[in-house]
Amino acid sequence: MKNLDTRIVVITGGSKGIGRSVAYKFAEEKARIILAHNDADDSASQETLDNLAHKGVEADAHRVDVSSFGAVDLLFKEIFSKFERVDVLINNAGITRDTLLMRMNEEDWDSVLNVNLKGVFNCTRAVVRSMIKERRGRIVNISSVVGQIGNAGQANYSASKAGIIGFTKTAAKELAGRSITVNGVAPGFIDTEMTAVLSEKVKESFLRQIPSGRMGKPEEVAEAVYWLCSDAASYVTGQIIHVNGGMYM
Ligand SMILES: NC(=O)c1ccc[n+]([C@@H]2O[C@H](COP(=O)([O-])OP(=O)(O)OC[C@H]3O[C@@H](n4cnc5c(N)ncnc54)[C@H](O)[C@@H]3O)[C@@H](O)[C@H]2O)c1
Repeated sequence: MKNLDTRIVVITGGSKGIGRSVAYKFAEEKARIILAHNDADDSASQETLDNLAHKGVEADAHRVDVSSFGAVDLLFKEIFSKFERVDVLINNAGITRDTLLMRMNEEDWDSVLNVNLKGVFNCTRAVVRSMIKERRGRIVNISSVVGQIGNAGQANYSASKAGIIGFTKTAAKELAGRSITVNGVAPGFIDTEMTAVLSEKVKESFLRQIPSGRMGKPEEVAEAVYWLCSDAASYVTGQIIHVNGGMYM
């Protein structure tokens, strides 16, 4: 007998940063959490799993490259054989390879598009049949403010994040009739490892563009993601929620 009360939640890029905060948010409802990441070592994912265990939540982590259709397919086959369904998919895995367009090489372009955009397709494709069968599901894709406004040095990244917006709206239209919602969250400038590597000069220039005058916290993004997955948002689909301190409105 399926326990429909415990939601099965898959979070890509769930080992740290925004994905980790999303996992902690789902821990509040005691969801069954599956993290996917592609870190070189397991230290961050282990820390996340330890904290989830401390909260009394069952979770596991898998190292998988979301840009590989075959690897993602295998992972979800394993998940379905264990849990029979996935209720929530958070497509959060993402990378940057920043450089000016003039210097951007093919590998910079391909790697970012493959992880950030193809990864969203691969994971969504892997869950969609089961969600249609269950006639329920929530998918949230993590885009970015730069997918809307662009950013010098991020042609690859902003294109991938803009692509996520088009993908989200199309998937929302295809799946709305089956009670599956597909939405996006577009964070602004959030305090994680991804932004920790930026120079002080770049950080200051970002901060000048934020009316709230500060970086966002991963937990502030997680709140929006979680709300989109709640019953309160059952009639919200195809939307992009901006969590950016007013950086873009
Ligand atoms: N931090 C920000 O300011 C910010 C702003 C807008 C959007 N975002 C987006 O939010 C998401 C999370 O960002 P973050 O700041 O928490 O990043 P992070 O660098 O802290 O974490 C990235 C996560 O993605 C995983 N990942 C990377 N490549 C992967 C791959 N090929 N397969 C599977 N997993 C992979 C990593 O293992 C890690 O778990 C990303 O999509 C990012 O583009 C971040």
